[in-house]
Amino acid sequence: MGAFIIHGGKPLMGSALISSSKNAILPILSACLLTAEECLIRQIPGLDDVSDMCELISNLGANVKVNGRSRKITVSAQSLTAHTAGYELVSKLRASFLVTGPLLARVGTAKVALPGGCPIGSRPVDLHLKGFEAMGAIIENGHGFIEARCPDKKLHGATIYLDFPSVGATENLLTAAVLAEGRTIIENAASEPEIVDLASFLVKMGAKISGAGTDTITIDGVDKVNGTEHTIMPDRIEAGTFMTAAALTGGDITLKNVVPEHLKPVTAKLRESGMEIIEGNDTIRVKGERRPLALDIKTHPFPGFPTDMQAQLSAYTCFAEGTSVIVETIFENRFMHVNELRRMGAQIRVDGRTAIIEGMETLQGAQVRATDLRAGAALIIAGLAATGTTEVLDIHHIDRGYEFIENKLQRLGADIRRIS
Ligand code: UD1
Repeated sequence: MGAFIIHGGKPLMGSALISSSKNAILPILSACLLTAEECLIRQIPGLDDVSDMCELISNLGANVKVNGRSRKITVSAQSLTAHTAGYELVSKLRASFLVTGPLLARVGTAKVALPGGCPIGSRPVDLHLKGFEAMGAIIENGHGFIEARCPDKKLHGATIYLDFPSVGATENLLTAAVLAEGRTIIENAASEPEIVDLASFLVKMGAKISGAGTDTITIDGVDKVNGTEHTIMPDRIEAGTFMTAAALTGGDITLKNVVPEHLKPVTAKLRESGMEIIEGNDTIRVKGERRPLALDIKTHPFPGFPTDMQAQLSAYTCFAEGTSVIVETIFENRFMHVNELRRMGAQIRVDGRTAIIEGMETLQGAQVRATDLRAGAALIIAGLAATGTTEVLDIHHIDRGYEFIENKLQRLGADIRRIS
């Protein structure tokens, strides 16, 4: 399973290249199923989630060629030979559910295992299903699977209001609507940058989409889409994680391949806590000027503070001067890092969706467990700033979403190594 051994107390210094976004590439790989022609995806991040999505789409009949050296993937879904995503992959990779939209659009049927329990909450898929139904699909649920069928030849356009701006539901419905008959309007859509990246890929394929990045997306269905090439956007959560680590360790780092605009909520909070952040065109410099000041943080859909940075900022505020209050509004069970941080001496009280954190001068290194991807990142940040040695267990969660994290941190001067 592996662990990271971290000897804390070294400031991060130097520069690092941010990888492409995990959350952008997963829906884009799935959208390749919409066409029989070849799609070329560039700047792929080497992540376990990406390998799992490649395995899933090749199980469905796509020919997937990964060239790790030149960081490219080609997907050629000439004919789809299956329409089922089984539980083994879906339970590992919740984003597997994103093949439902492209499968329904292309072959009129999709059978996908129910995602099941997820460590950060129940994460239902009701909004995805309501949207497919509005577009004419019939949904059946049984034996652990959701089966969606399109009784008419094609899905038809519809106006769909999402009760919550779900990222996954917006992506699934957007890809389904590309080949539907007529116009689809998604209201209260998610506006995350990853949705914009997906829409720009679909538009290059020949889809007719407007409004991506706002709360109303309009899609005019087309008969077919073509193959295309695309470079994946930078990973704003990886960048935010490194920014937080540098600020907390009193470091001075420059991150390359970032979109500072995507990082505004994180930049604002780090500045509020007393750090200096200098934004370039596609770079960001973070100077850890002082012990952080306490923060109040509430997670929101984009452009609000991202839930995927909540655990990292929780770790950060454990070292702050004063009391911080962190409210998680997106997922109901996203404080699992708290128990692990307490093992390092953190003073945190959780009341429902609120964590109250009494900042300490320092935490002590301890053996801790990564309970999910971002919780794991939070523990690395805490370990880098703590006194003594921290051992982070279950790092397979971290490998799902951070590419070569220990190598990148080592190059910035961190004392971190992987043991198996
Ligand atoms: C995506 C991201 C994840 C991020 C999350 C929120 C990917 C692969 N993952 O996850 O990293 O934390 O957005 O920014 O891009 N919900 C429903 N019904 C639904 C769908 C969602 O109630 O049909 C609820 C969920 O339970 C959750 C909230 O909506 O409480 C947000 O979920 P959603 O935006 O869909 O997140 P994901 O797409 O799963």
